[in-house]
Amino acid sequence: CGIIGYTGDRDVLPVLLDGLATLEYRGYDSAGVVVITGSASPELRMVKRAGKLDQLQGVVREDDLHGTVGLGHTRWATHGQPTDRNAHPHLDQVGDLAFVHNGIIENYAELRAELEADGVSFLSETDTEVATQLLARLRRDEADLAEAVRALMRRLEGQFAFAVVDRREPDRLVAARRGAPLVLGRADGANLLASDVAGLIAHTRDVESLLDDQVAVLTPDGIEVTDVHGAPSSGQRFTVDWDITAAEKQGYPHFMLKEIHEQPQAIADTLLARTDPDGRIVLDELRFDGADLRSADKVYVVACGTSYHAGLVAKHAIEHWAGIGVEVEIASEFRYRDPILTPHTIVVAISQSGETTDTIAAAAHARDQRARVVAISNVVGSTLTREADAVLYTRAGPEIAVASTKAFTTQIAALGVLALFLAQERRKLFPEECRDQLARLEQLPELMEQVLEADGHLAELAERIARADYVMFIGRHNGVPIALEGALKLKEISYLHAEGFPAGEMKHGPIALIDSGGPVIAIATRGHVHSKVVSNIQEVKARGAEVTAIATEGDTAVKEHADHVVYVPEVHELLYPILTVLPLQAIAYHAAVLLGRDVDQPRNLAKTVTVE
Ligand code: G6P
Repeated sequence: CGIIGYTGDRDVLPVLLDGLATLEYRGYDSAGVVVITGSASPELRMVKRAGKLDQLQGVVREDDLHGTVGLGHTRWATHGQPTDRNAHPHLDQVGDLAFVHNGIIENYAELRAELEADGVSFLSETDTEVATQLLARLRRDEADLAEAVRALMRRLEGQFAFAVVDRREPDRLVAARRGAPLVLGRADGANLLASDVAGLIAHTRDVESLLDDQVAVLTPDGIEVTDVHGAPSSGQRFTVDWDITAAEKQGYPHFMLKEIHEQPQAIADTLLARTDPDGRIVLDELRFDGADLRSADKVYVVACGTSYHAGLVAKHAIEHWAGIGVEVEIASEFRYRDPILTPHTIVVAISQSGETTDTIAAAAHARDQRARVVAISNVVGSTLTREADAVLYTRAGPEIAVASTKAFTTQIAALGVLALFLAQERRKLFPEECRDQLARLEQLPELMEQVLEADGHLAELAERIARADYVMFIGRHNGVPIALEGALKLKEISYLHAEGFPAGEMKHGPIALIDSGGPVIAIATRGHVHSKVVSNIQEVKARGAEVTAIATEGDTAVKEHADHVVYVPEVHELLYPILTVLPLQAIAYHAAVLLGRDVDQPRNLAKTVTVE
């Protein structure tokens, strides 16, 4: 799931291990490095281990791995279990070249059969080894490694990014991508590659994203990019505008806690400079004219995981303010049915990383059908942003913890601005109404600070939650996505069984799960469904649930029905999600800490899922 490569004037092993550490957050279950050693007769030295990076660090011996060119990899298992053998790098049969790879090679079975018929035997079950052995074959007939890699690219199907070293060309790294991210960095006396900017930032801010079907050759002196036929080409070059401290814990015990506390600032940054001097909302990035937006007849939102929940929140705001129907879809489902897409359909694809394969594929499907795609992403230059017609960036800064927090709330804020912009352009709201609503959004950071400061009793609540077998989250209207997100946070990092439900749906099944003392967390803020939620709370109480209500300050009546109440300040009904999710994030965090879980890198999960 993470690739790092270096060719330069420094000892490469520490560079690779540090680089892998910065990519750790992406999630992985094995790790490995390969270094080209010995200048007179260069050799490949490789070490790889199942498990976390410290397992690898425990067995690498610096003396054996001296060199200035090498690759590192962290793997999230797809084909074959997370074992030492299946870990990357993979070597060809004679040990001339080493290969690391992310993503999936779809035609690997066919290629493997072809190679086996040709007498090649395999050590692992991975698609990566198939690509490695095929590359070794192709290398025999081609002039150099770069040519062989281009020939390989013409044979592979799927979505992937890979990098190789060859002891016969010991100064260079060759890399290529199709559908999975890979960035190149130019530093003093060295050039590097990595799966994302976090891996490069300790060395340089001068970054180039490799584009699909490009091949890059890196030497200490330069980087050359070509297409798969060898014609000169170039990726997308940009300067990274955050520094290494943004990707450090800065005194917090976990990235997740730091990121929870960064939310007010992240929201303020995301909302910054969204109006012109007359107070009209301007989203120049959108590049659609008013007529386009007025003729839009439908909005689809596609996303995965937490980003999907942000889409569910936005549905309420867009439908209410802009008067346009919104369907929110899990990205991995979208293109396998027949969504009705026309040139008047707007598809909003939400992805923190901008690299989630399912979301990119859904956006591509929508574009194929001539719908217009707006990407909401946190990563400048990411694949999704390049494939969309327009991009709206969240400005959350790097999110390192696997469980998303600040990306979620900034997505809701950005989508709120989008909803108001649509309302303005479609003349569904008067300009002053749009301004008022935007002003309300702008007050959120301060109110979020208040909620975050009042965290004290959440740790106690989390203690009760951590002892439960099953935790239920309920809400109505835009409390439903927050119930879903609260449950997702808890299951992701504490591994507790948790589910979110529309509160009104409880009586049609889920209420059968309620047992004496079973915890239920209810989103019960003020608004037009408040009394309905209170009734649903009474229903679960009557069956023995221990209820925690997330309610609006001043709502003392709710105390009569709930065992515990967590208050958030009063805001416009459509803005509550940004506040009500905060205590749920904190409860999940405290529960995971109490249970001794790996908060920032929970088991089996990856930050960026570049496989379908
Ligand atoms: C993974 C992460 C989640 C994230 C989801 C979508 O599953 O573990 O935290 O919500 O991917 O990621 P994206 O980058 O597309 O928002």
